[in-house]
Amino acid sequence: EKDILKQLPLYGKKVLITAGPTYEALDPVRFIGNHSSGKMGFEIAKAAANLGAEVVLVSGPTHQTITHSLVTVKPVVSAEDMYNEVHKHFEASDIAILSAAVADYRPKNVASQKIKKKDATFSIELEKTKDILKSLGAIKAHQLLVGFALETNNELEHAKGKLQSKNLDLIVLNSLQDKGAGFGVSTNKVTFITSTNDVIENPLKSKAEVAKDLMQQILKQLNA
Ligand code: CTP
Ligand code: CA
Repeated sequence: EKDILKQLPLYGKKVLITAGPTYEALDPVRFIGNHSSGKMGFEIAKAAANLGAEVVLVSGPTHQTITHSLVTVKPVVSAEDMYNEVHKHFEASDIAILSAAVADYRPKNVASQKIKKKDATFSIELEKTKDILKSLGAIKAHQLLVGFALETNNELEHAKGKLQSKNLDLIVLNSLQDKGAGFGVSTNKVTFITSTNDVIENPLKSKAEVAKDLMQQILKQLNA
């Protein structure tokens, strides 16, 4: 079986993937989160492992499951947890693909007891979380770094901006303008943009197909 594995194009490569939402606690029973299902990241993990890669999948809270001998799941809850877990694995990785829908802000203060109902209005002060992808772009050496961009307007421009400011090799633009793309659904319409300014548009496909296409694009860039 090992001989068959050795034939695969990502044999011996380590791939780090983030998936799912993050939950940012407000008090012991409440959090701020988002509707990310984690499906895209889990499909990427499966596609990478099927090419022979050893995968570490850092995932926020999700119902997705995966059983593959080459995939290790590291469950996390908050953006801070995800940042710490990702940094444990980045140096040893060859490829990092950050598909998680990380919260941009978290409650500045987390109450130790359940917050009681009181006035007619209630405000929560938020502070920025760490940008995990950007932090990897700042320290990357041999790694191929891949990010996602979820945009609703000026999509190409915004995605190219993220590619540059986060020092990425490839960004996957997820267009929410198309019905049947994005959160909760099993299809996605994505555009790949490379650091050498190649723009590759893809038709609407299942997330499993998008994951396979993405791995083929990564293989192409690895071998270039
Ligand atoms: N990302 C991350 N850590 C964060 C926020 C985002 O690693 N704290 C990653 C996402 O996983 C994704 C990429 O950065 O790969 C882009 O995420 P996106 O939300 O589209 O962009 P932001 O940089 O957060 O900017 P904005 O939400 O304002 O468009
Ligand atoms: Ca964001």
